[in-house]
Amino acid sequence: MTESTGLDVQGGWQRSHKAGDVTAERVGEEVVLGGWVQRRRDHGGVIFVDLRDREGLVQIVFKPDTSPECHERAGVLRSEYVVMVRGRVQRRSPETVNPNLATGEVEVLVDELRVLNSATPPPFAIEEETDADESTRLEHRVHDLRRPPLQRALRLRHELYQAVRAALCERDFLEIETPMLAKSTPEGARDFLVPSRLQPGAFYALPQSPQIMKQLLMVSGFDRYFQIVRCFRDEDQRADRQLEFTQIDLELAFTTVEEVLDVLEAVTVAGCATAGIDVARPFPRITHAEAMAKYGVDRPDTRIQLELVDLTDTFAESGFNAFRSVVEKGGIVKCLPIHDAKEVSRGQIDKLESFVRKELGAKGLAWVRVDDEGGWQSPIAKFLSDEERATITSRTNARPGSLIFFQADEAPRANAILARLRVDLGERLGRVDGRDHEVLFVVDFPIFERDDDGNLTYVHQPFVAPLEEDLEKLDSDPEAVRGTHYDVVMNGVELGSGSLRNHRADVQRRIFELMGYAKADTEERFGFLLEALEAGAPPHGGFAFGFDRWAMQLAGAPSLRDVIAFPKTQRGQDLLMNAPSPVANEQLDELSLRVRAPKK
Ligand code: AMO
Ligand code: AMP
Repeated sequence: MTESTGLDVQGGWQRSHKAGDVTAERVGEEVVLGGWVQRRRDHGGVIFVDLRDREGLVQIVFKPDTSPECHERAGVLRSEYVVMVRGRVQRRSPETVNPNLATGEVEVLVDELRVLNSATPPPFAIEEETDADESTRLEHRVHDLRRPPLQRALRLRHELYQAVRAALCERDFLEIETPMLAKSTPEGARDFLVPSRLQPGAFYALPQSPQIMKQLLMVSGFDRYFQIVRCFRDEDQRADRQLEFTQIDLELAFTTVEEVLDVLEAVTVAGCATAGIDVARPFPRITHAEAMAKYGVDRPDTRIQLELVDLTDTFAESGFNAFRSVVEKGGIVKCLPIHDAKEVSRGQIDKLESFVRKELGAKGLAWVRVDDEGGWQSPIAKFLSDEERATITSRTNARPGSLIFFQADEAPRANAILARLRVDLGERLGRVDGRDHEVLFVVDFPIFERDDDGNLTYVHQPFVAPLEEDLEKLDSDPEAVRGTHYDVVMNGVELGSGSLRNHRADVQRRIFELMGYAKADTEERFGFLLEALEAGAPPHGGFAFGFDRWAMQLAGAPSLRDVIAFPKTQRGQDLLMNAPSPVANEQLDELSLRVRAPKK
């Protein structure tokens, strides 16, 4: 013991076991354990401590007659003190067995204690559940990470890494690193820039993904590459988005969509197995067009047994102005029929309407309820012709008890609103099949879409190769060109995306051109890629899983922050390190930078 602090030194002690591994098989053995004090209880002379380490908890016991000196010292122990103990494993008396603990049948009777460190009182209890708010947890992440859910989550991540690595290595993929100090890649987000000291006024961009680098590796002959890699995207944060996140990135040469999907199935199955989730092969496939039509999103959760119905043609010449005018302007009319929905009250419908208006920008929420006699209660029934009613009835299979919600709007918004209602109401009304997990492929995404100004832009990224049979439409009808893009979707979440790429420079140039990139701009940003494509690029394609999203699904966690050791907040802050933070002027000078007063 050192005089001033009352602390002991470790003195060469090594642990014989982990606390959580001290089970009934060890009864009678001497063990040396190290860990944190979860709790101390004094029971008339006997002191019980729950000792915690990575593997769990074990009860350790200090008795005055076993070792009076230890017993006395145990009195100083407080929550989160760091100790090592030497003692003997013994069976607990039957009435004190704790069936909820792997070590619940035993305890360790201590005959030597070393107090290695004291601890400030934890800001919240280190327990399964906590009512601490998230910013407190993130600020005190060191404590938060000691809690069982986070210990489990990071262990799950570890297992997922290993399973994915093994599955890819088994299939002959080479793990190759690519630079973090790089050039902008167009994944659709803002770049994080890093100023160069050696080239004043010039900046690196942190990679939004290794997309271009992995394509270059294919050109260089490293057929079958993978990397578990950090990506950086400066975009608005949501529960399923972080500024920096991890991808399982992979690429194959001389490949086909079928070959890539086969690899993806194998990797997905191996990864899901780490969480005890059995995924059956082959995965169901749905085309992008079908997903949008039936579910209103490109990442449907098809466990929810509700489907959208299109009525655009029905309202093209309708007397109901609110709907017809939308169709005239190129919008759509779709509906979400829910049968046997009597339990949804009028009050709830009104709440839904104000929700979609306020939160999702809806113009309204028209609805029809079919009563027991087959009559329609509806704010829009009076505007509809008999023919329109008949069409709606037959397309939706409306019957007494049915409730139908309508959206007339531009396609993206109408679909997004109905997709949201489909998920919310489907879950609330229990319209889900019994499966805990569902994995599917969404295939045949279009390559281009129109942006708000009516210009062509890419749906995924500009390197997606067209389907071979659609190549000639690049000139005549680019919007009709289908891409080779595919997604893996799990439980309504986009786990990952990929495609075959343009390996011919002429096709790649044409696509940049169609998207309105100026020639000079293309050469500046992508010249090195185009040159590489001209250097003998094989056909190639690949994929990237969002690793954090996958871990979040496997852990059943509501947010990425629950499966990342040191995540950022909604506002992009690390509350533990207090980043980002201002830097000294000298540092800025070295980088030839000056900070202007922030814009209001
Ligand atoms: P994409 O941009 O679709 O494709 O990204 C692949 C996957 O990464 C995950 N992801 C994110 N996870 C957390 N936070 C974010 N901000 C975030 N952004 C994306 C998603 C997504 O499906 N280069 C292509 C892949 C390829 O074509 O090979 C790419 O990056 O799960
Ligand atoms: P109004 O004619 O504006 O009184 O609308 C009649 C009903 O149709 C109301 O219940 C509105 O919420 C609904 N409604 C109006 N416009 C739309 C629209 N574009 N999409 C869906 N419902 C709408």
